[in-house]
Amino acid sequence: NDKVSSCSCSVATQYSQNIIVTVCSLHFNNIFSCSFSAAGVLLQVKMNVRRHLKNKNTVPKIFAETVARYGDKTALIFEGTGEKWTFRQLDEYSNRVANLLLERGFKDGDVVALFMENRSQYVGLWLGMAKIGVEAALINFNLRLEALVHCVTISNAKAVVFGSELNEAVSEVHSLMGREVQMFCSGDWDPKRVPRGTECLEPLLDNAPSHLPIFSPCCLFSDRLFYIYTSGTTGMPKAAIVVHSRYYRMAALVYYGFRMTPDDVLYDCLPLYHSAGNIVGVGQCILHGMTVVIRKKFSASRFWDDCAKYNCTIVQYIGEICRYLLNQPVRDIEQQHRVRMALGNGLRQSIWVEFMERFNIPQIAEFYGATECNCSLGNFDNKIGACGFNSQILPFIYPIRLVRVDEETMELIRGPDGVCIPCKPGEPGQLVGRIIQNDPLRRFDGYVNQSATSKKIANSVFKKGDSAYLSGDVLIMDECGHMYFKDRTGDTFRWKGENVSTTEVEGTLSRLLDMKDVVVYGVEVPGAEGKAGMAAIADPTQSTDLAKFVKDMEKALPPYARPVFLRFLPEVNKTGTFKFQKMDLRRDSFDPSAVSDRLYFLDSRRGSYVQLDEELYRSILSGKHKL
Ligand SMILES: *[C@@H]1O[C@H](CO)[C@@H](O)[C@H](O)[C@H]1NC(C)=O
Ligand SMILES: *[C@@H]1O[C@H](CO)[C@@H](O)[C@H](O)[C@H]1NC(C)=O
Ligand SMILES: *[C@@H]1O[C@H](CO)[C@@H](O)[C@H](O)[C@H]1NC(C)=O
Ligand SMILES: *[C@@H]1O[C@H](CO)[C@@H](O)[C@H](O)[C@H]1NC(C)=O
Ligand SMILES: *[C@@H]1O[C@H](CO)[C@@H](O)[C@H](O)[C@H]1NC(C)=O
Ligand SMILES: *[C@@H]1O[C@H](CO)[C@@H](O)[C@H](O)[C@H]1NC(C)=O
Repeated sequence: NDKVSSCSCSVATQYSQNIIVTVCSLHFNNIFSCSFSAAGVLLQVKMNVRRHLKNKNTVPKIFAETVARYGDKTALIFEGTGEKWTFRQLDEYSNRVANLLLERGFKDGDVVALFMENRSQYVGLWLGMAKIGVEAALINFNLRLEALVHCVTISNAKAVVFGSELNEAVSEVHSLMGREVQMFCSGDWDPKRVPRGTECLEPLLDNAPSHLPIFSPCCLFSDRLFYIYTSGTTGMPKAAIVVHSRYYRMAALVYYGFRMTPDDVLYDCLPLYHSAGNIVGVGQCILHGMTVVIRKKFSASRFWDDCAKYNCTIVQYIGEICRYLLNQPVRDIEQQHRVRMALGNGLRQSIWVEFMERFNIPQIAEFYGATECNCSLGNFDNKIGACGFNSQILPFIYPIRLVRVDEETMELIRGPDGVCIPCKPGEPGQLVGRIIQNDPLRRFDGYVNQSATSKKIANSVFKKGDSAYLSGDVLIMDECGHMYFKDRTGDTFRWKGENVSTTEVEGTLSRLLDMKDVVVYGVEVPGAEGKAGMAAIADPTQSTDLAKFVKDMEKALPPYARPVFLRFLPEVNKTGTFKFQKMDLRRDSFDPSAVSDRLYFLDSRRGSYVQLDEELYRSILSGKHKL
């Protein structure tokens, strides 16, 4: 019975004392099967990685095997234009890209920036570059001006390939990029709208040969494949290095872990400049021969129609997508599809069950893992709310751990011996992964920026003198080893002596407010210890009933977690992957003279929100009005 969810730690203890227990309890079976299936997946991927290393394989070489096997099967479908490419077509297109670049003198180790929104060719472009060891820098197509120049510059790109839909963005910054950068434009060609010297890509590709590039293979499984940028919710984006083995490992862990097959059809509406869309999603096509449906932009209203139209069996999500889907009016189509699994990360516990039931999705394949981190986790057994599992009876298989931190500053708490303190079950801690550089599963390739790399590594974490990767995220583990996401770096704040997880409060408030976007953060109030909670609520129609909201909130949240201040605004700023941008909101705080939006203050004596005007603001600042 796999529905049994409770378990006790006696199993782990008994195992470690080498006592052979013949207790046949349900949870006992469950933990064992979880542990062994998770361990099995890891071992399988590990063995495959070893084999690819030994055979000097690369992602393009594995792709060649895929093409040999699935040649005429559909590899990619581009929802939007309806275009379909078979594996052979994708192979030929990428060969042309490789041959063109070879002819232009590009060689292995060179970098080419890829900046595109319309993406029929996106995958073929980076794959073609990889065929001759040229590394693509995958630039977020929402970037403009300084941020765009920054990303291109730090990658040291010798050329930029951009889509014609981004002509203006490129023209704006062209003069800042340096003259040596070659420009290629793909799409609707208009020589008047592109920077001088730009070449139109399509005729060049048409003239390039479609056979495999003739060139002596240079790169290895441990070499660089491309760069992906962190989303930059704080400060400028950083370029994270993705090596071939990491691409393989990220895609293979979810493939084997969630028991996918080449017959699955995967719906991928996530941006291709990120690892979720381009590795976890597209990787299943490149490495495992799965058909992947790509959509330029996520559309909540078209989501289930697309799934039904293409017979998708797996859909990808990132956090907020699920909430946007739940926010849609109920339609028949949302149940009439063949989706058997939703794959992604950041599904909030507050809507987990509702999401499964309403859309008739049997399995949630939630995983955890940043592009650059080496501590990926997966919820392989459909455990509600969990983002992963780490065996407590076979802990040596996967050296990751939760260690005690100050949740507010994220500083590691160390014992008298200077080594970090592991968390007990139920105790929140930062996820860390031990670094073993010569083990491809445990290595960390870092960022292009060395000083950014060193910030993510700490010493003496598992034992004295070792080094480990810091995920920056706080998780909680139960006694069986299921891991639950709690909060992101520095997003927890302290109020009335309690730790408030903004992620949890955001999830709860959003549920109470019909899935509106809610951003929670802490603001300083002079004279008050800690930070007071503030919630920015996207309410374009101004339809929130505050009296009802307070009543519902009192039932759902403990007093210290209830936001003291509310800010209603038409829209909150998000990144391309729907991460909230909190910096500006934090800075604006609750000052009515700096913020033109409606502000409210929770008057605890009256138990209701009152409008926050200048007078009340001054009286709060002066400490006359106690919180
Ligand atoms: C690219 O996308 C833009 C905006 O959606 C559209 O107007 C344009 O026609 C597209 N171009 C191509 C070549 O698909
Ligand atoms: C989806 O499946 C149905 C029934 O098996 C089939 O008729 C249809 O052609 C399929 N659609 C696509 C896009 O493969
Ligand atoms: C809040 O977190 C800190 C460490 O980050 C911990 O010492 C403290 O006990 C926590 N407080 C509560 C009430 O959980
Ligand atoms: C994390 O990265 C470090 C640094 O390269 C590496 O040595 C370690 O093995 C990695 N850990 C995991 C769990 O992959
Ligand atoms: C590298 O990272 C450090 C610290 O994060 C930052 O101060 C510096 O500006 C970065 N350098 C570049 C070239 O981005
Ligand atoms: C959203 O972003 C824009 C552009 O960066 C900025 O001007 C604006 O102040 C931001 N809005 C909020 C509420 O932070």
